[in-house]
Amino acid sequence: MPRLAPGFVPPVAIDARRRTPIYRQLYEWFRTAILAGQLRPGQRLPSTRQLAAELGVSRIPVLGAYEQLHAEGYLESFVGAGTCVARSIPERAPLIGRPAARHAAGRVPNGVGPRRTSRLARTIFQTDQSWLGNPGAFRISLPALDQFPSTVWARLVNRHARRVTRGMMAYGDPMGDGSLRAAIAEYVGAARAVRCDPSQIMVTTGSQQGLLVTARVLLDARDAVWVEDPAYPGARQALLAAGARMVPVPVDEDGLDVARGTRASPSARAVYITPSHQHPLGVTMSATRRMTLLDWASRAGAWIIEDDYDSEYRFDSRPITSLHSMDADARVIYVGTFSKVLFPALRLGYVVVPKDLVPAFSAMRDASDVFSSTLYQAVVNDFIREGHFARHIRRMRMVYMERRQALVDAIRHEAGGRLEVIGAAAGLHLAALLPPGVSDEDVARRAAAKGILVTPLSSCCFSAPQRGGLILGYGGITPHDIREGVKTLAGCLEGR
Ligand SMILES: Cc1ncc(COP(=O)(O)O)c(C=O)c1O
Repeated sequence: MPRLAPGFVPPVAIDARRRTPIYRQLYEWFRTAILAGQLRPGQRLPSTRQLAAELGVSRIPVLGAYEQLHAEGYLESFVGAGTCVARSIPERAPLIGRPAARHAAGRVPNGVGPRRTSRLARTIFQTDQSWLGNPGAFRISLPALDQFPSTVWARLVNRHARRVTRGMMAYGDPMGDGSLRAAIAEYVGAARAVRCDPSQIMVTTGSQQGLLVTARVLLDARDAVWVEDPAYPGARQALLAAGARMVPVPVDEDGLDVARGTRASPSARAVYITPSHQHPLGVTMSATRRMTLLDWASRAGAWIIEDDYDSEYRFDSRPITSLHSMDADARVIYVGTFSKVLFPALRLGYVVVPKDLVPAFSAMRDASDVFSSTLYQAVVNDFIREGHFARHIRRMRMVYMERRQALVDAIRHEAGGRLEVIGAAAGLHLAALLPPGVSDEDVARRAAAKGILVTPLSSCCFSAPQRGGLILGYGGITPHDIREGVKTLAGCLEGR
């Protein structure tokens, strides 16, 4: 490893065996030495000829390194005085040591202490993402990926990827592709009785973004929002990220308790609700409650954010029509997603926006991430229009019905008396209550140690629930794995 003699600059180290070119090694060495304060502003550097001779390398890489350092403002030259470190570099360099290495190691610069983030970021930071790497039973929010028509999908992706148009490569409408919006309007009209025209559809990056954009359009900081208790944690995150103040409202067998909400916060700005299939308890909001809620919203001038995330899959009756379909006052913002009916990594969803709010939603979407991937919008559009979507949903309904039955039967067989199934009429998950006094977090921890992922009901609650419970996803696992999973889970209920 050739070294430049110490004295006028610290020893320059390069290593000809490294794959990094010599000019790059020299550039990085000088840049780091300047940032670390080892080379001071105004300090003279050896000439390129001298440095090349001392290092035993050709002059070309030395010239390349100096040129780059000049271009970035680290060096300056004067006729007759040679090259020196730019005098404009501050004496106290912003980063000490080797910046790239420090950042790669995720370390914080010395002496800075914990760095301040916004209050909002501190509020929403504590989500548990540990489930992401767990492929086992009973992860919630996962559809039957093993049953997805991947060949058809690949053909449609290829069709658009091979003949990508200029329109698809340029900036697009923040509200989404016109043809897809028309297809979605037709679909929600037929399947969910949501009456709207395509101009009211905003295509989003999943319902998570739909909720966030909706909250940002409708709410100011600290505005009160009724939230179901227990609730979908993703919705809580979105509302918190928009600065809303949560007002937990209990859910009973008829859904959100509107009378309790009215007592707690009569003039709340909005309510977040999953009326077709309450997340996580699985209850369906009764017609009376729906009417009471619409009436309250109308009188209070409040918005209703309806999250209709998995209502395509209902097993004991036809799908329950949306709350949106009962709304005569344009107060309901309807949020839908392709995460359950196609797959979550697609990151596509939609919001049905009241007509007068379309410009505000469009502007907020533009400010957030401009618009969703045009390629996947085009693919989903074809998938719907060519009939694959309707066929897939029909087929999946049978698949989920079988998986749900496998889970209900296995629970009855292996854990009857210790798990009380509730809310199994729809969707891709069910809730099961534990005997009084049993901690759902303890059971979830024991299960996780055995590779089983169950979500404790308490993780969805604002305060400790009267009875603990487990949220069990069955959409993404086969009946065989469901049965094996329940056997393991039964052992965890015994404290094993
Ligand atoms: C209540 C609820 N809403 C929405 C979603 C879907 O979110 P996204 O469309 O962002 O994937 C889920 C997924 O688990 C959910 O449970």
